Amino acid sequence: MAADIDRAGVEKAYGRWAPIYDLVFGKVFHGGRQSTVEIANQIGGRILDVGVGTGLSLVHYAPTIRICGVDIAEPMLRKAQQRVREQQLDNVEVLSVMDARNLAFPDGLFDAVVAQYVITAVPDPEATLDEFVRVLKPGGELILVNHIGAEHGPRYLFERAFAPLARRLGWRPEFPWARLVKWAAGHGGVTLTERRPMPPMGHFSLIRYCRLWMTLVCRLRQSVGVTGACRVRSLAGV
Ligand SMILES: C[S@@+](CC[C@H](N)C(=O)[O-])C[C@H]1O[C@@H](n2cnc3c(N)ncnc32)[C@H](O)[C@@H]1O
Repeated sequence: MAADIDRAGVEKAYGRWAPIYDLVFGKVFHGGRQSTVEIANQIGGRILDVGVGTGLSLVHYAPTIRICGVDIAEPMLRKAQQRVREQQLDNVEVLSVMDARNLAFPDGLFDAVVAQYVITAVPDPEATLDEFVRVLKPGGELILVNHIGAEHGPRYLFERAFAPLARRLGWRPEFPWARLVKWAAGHGGVTLTERRPMPPMGHFSLIRYCRLWMTLVCRLRQSVGVTGACRVRSLAGV
């Protein structure tokens, strides 16, 4: 099995990607970015966009949303800062170099945490997810979009074989759904509210968790037809 990714390796990898990132990953991940931001826009309030990268998502947030964006790779973040300046995105409150695993924000600050194509790029996904939940308000939403690794078959074999190179490029291709299921069960403070296949090729998923203790309120909101945060659906079999 390939050695896992580490923080220094990820910083270096995305430092190298920064000049060409938009060209390579701009269009291919556009659908996932837009879908996550649409959900965040319905929720409203203050949003944390973790691993904001070059800030491709920032233009899609509603002007009323207050956005904090963080990333570990300074060269990526400089591109985001340039975008904010050029497009006069006044709703971006903070853009800061920060490790997703150790967020410098108090508990319960955000209405939603958005992480697009990030969770497979961090060294310790489970601890990072815990940190995302920590900064969420009770009833707030964690909205992820990510590649989900195959659990068997030719794609599984390919992802295993590709893993050493992928790690040098800055991500971990073998990240099975079972790992998220185990994390959520172990955490105990979140409920899965949606999993939606996303392009390219449906190998990606948009995944939503609601931070618990407000589950009852979420269900009540759903029953009276309120859209936005925590639209709880039945996810039997997901
Ligand atoms: C695949 S890129 C996604 C960028 C952006 N979200 C997008 O949709 O294009 C992954 C991003 O996560 C950032 N990242 C990786 N590990 C991180 C960490 N521990 N803390 C914060 N950001 C991290 C990388 O620097 C990179 O910008």
